[in-house]
Amino acid sequence: MDGNGRWAKKRFLPRAAGHKAGVDAVRKVSRAARELGLECLTLYAFSSENWKRPEQEISDLTGLMKHFIRSDIAELHANDVRLRVIGDYRAFDDEVVELIEGALEKTRDNRGHTLVIALNYGAQDELARAAAKAAEKGPITPAAIEAELDTAGLPPLDLLIRTSGEVRLSNFLLWQVAYAELYFTDMLWPDFDKEALSAALENFAARERRYGGL
Ligand code: IPE
Ligand code: MG
Repeated sequence: MDGNGRWAKKRFLPRAAGHKAGVDAVRKVSRAARELGLECLTLYAFSSENWKRPEQEISDLTGLMKHFIRSDIAELHANDVRLRVIGDYRAFDDEVVELIEGALEKTRDNRGHTLVIALNYGAQDELARAAAKAAEKGPITPAAIEAELDTAGLPPLDLLIRTSGEVRLSNFLLWQVAYAELYFTDMLWPDFDKEALSAALENFAARERRYGGL
């Protein structure tokens, strides 16, 4: 989810207004993903590198996380959505951690759809942690690493979308992206909606996936 700051700048608004609009997009795109029949949607909300941002912006972002969990978890639960978090969310303040754990607990048995939020997530960190855990248990094989990833048990990654015109992965799901299809759009995240998601899915559906075969 990239482009909140540029979305705000275009409107002569503070960056915080862009992040707020970004949360509205999260709500809409999460609903759209369910309506379009997706099994799982993962959103990169806060990277392990985002701590480099000014303190005020980090506090705006954590404020929005709290607000989102408080205001949206009932709807998610009512719609049979299971929440998962990847990344080390324990780095956030106690209130955020409590809210997250409450939401994970409340929705853990839901099976209609899985909404995964990446919080304080970095793929290199995830891989290092997974490899260390795998090594404790036995030989380090791809399957052994896979079983220790934060995404263990989630369906394979099919499509990765990045908004705002940047064409890079920025430490997101580096292991899982092995055979995923990549989709880049110039649209800024707050403008991304059901129509944009449908367009990405239509593009994905037209691709030929060979997984190294013929
Ligand atoms: C959202 O967009 C990223 C986060 C959710 C932290 P940015 O804040 O990176 O917006 P730009 O790249 O400055 O436009
Ligand atoms: Mg950005």
